[in-house]
Amino acid sequence: MALLHTEHLDMRFGGLSALEDLNLAVPAGGLYGLIGPNGAGKTTVFNLISGFLKPTGGRIVWDGREISGEPPHRLADWGIARTFQNIRLFGELSVLENVLVGFHCRSRATWGEAVFRLPRYRREERDRRSRGLALLEEVGLAEAADQPAGKLPYGHQRRLEIARALATGPRCLLLDEPAAGLNPQETGDLIFFIRDIKDRYDLTILVIEHNLRLVMGLCQHLTVLDHGLTIAAGPTAEIRKNPEVIRAYLGK
Ligand SMILES: Nc1ncnc2c1ncn2[C@@H]1O[C@H](COP(=O)(O)OP(=O)(O)OP(=O)(O)O)[C@@H](O)[C@H]1O
Ligand SMILES: [Mg+2]
Repeated sequence: MALLHTEHLDMRFGGLSALEDLNLAVPAGGLYGLIGPNGAGKTTVFNLISGFLKPTGGRIVWDGREISGEPPHRLADWGIARTFQNIRLFGELSVLENVLVGFHCRSRATWGEAVFRLPRYRREERDRRSRGLALLEEVGLAEAADQPAGKLPYGHQRRLEIARALATGPRCLLLDEPAAGLNPQETGDLIFFIRDIKDRYDLTILVIEHNLRLVMGLCQHLTVLDHGLTIAAGPTAEIRKNPEVIRAYLGK
């Protein structure tokens, strides 16, 4: 059974149909790709699944329960984490602090306990710091822990954003164009990195990407969108031979 699936999912913005009748079925442990030209509706799919948008039609089902229209923080609690097409880090905060932001969604201490820095909060904070450092170690950013996030090289900022998403303890990770702005070497590293965290954290991963090397090298299944419509879906090896996909997206 699919861990995440959508049924006839629609999103309209006024007169514009950004997404129409999307039927995704992402198996647990899968590496699933979403591709298509600019404006195809890819980010809209992520905004719907992560609760940033409410669908105008259809359903989203996560682990057997309907989640359409649930708010982002609840979906994060239930194990859905995402990154953004345009990196959203706190540039002035340190690398470690950026990761700690992710842990906060799992805090048990109350607001009052935090304000007065009561023992439970302090204990949790110590614990979070050491887990944050361990996570940075795992993603290869430990040496930069105290640097401002905004000063990191671009490839590392992308990686940090993924680390922050991991800090929320997800079962499913949505990556929106993780290779955007990376050079070929960094893109190669990223492919290894994504495979590694998928195994290490037992993740299901959905990735949006224009970089075909990354998509073809990483994803087992693809859905191809164009103007909000699904023009093809299936195993990557089949999609790359599909003439309509080649015409609409792959070019030549
Ligand atoms: N919040 C919004 N309000 C109005 N229109 C929107 C909104 N979000 C997206 N759209 C429109 O929906 C369509 C799909 O946008 P979306 O961002 O999902 O495309 P995309 O496939 O991610 O494109 P890109 O590859 O450029 O990131 C576009 O026409 C876009 O202008
Ligand atoms: Mg997009």
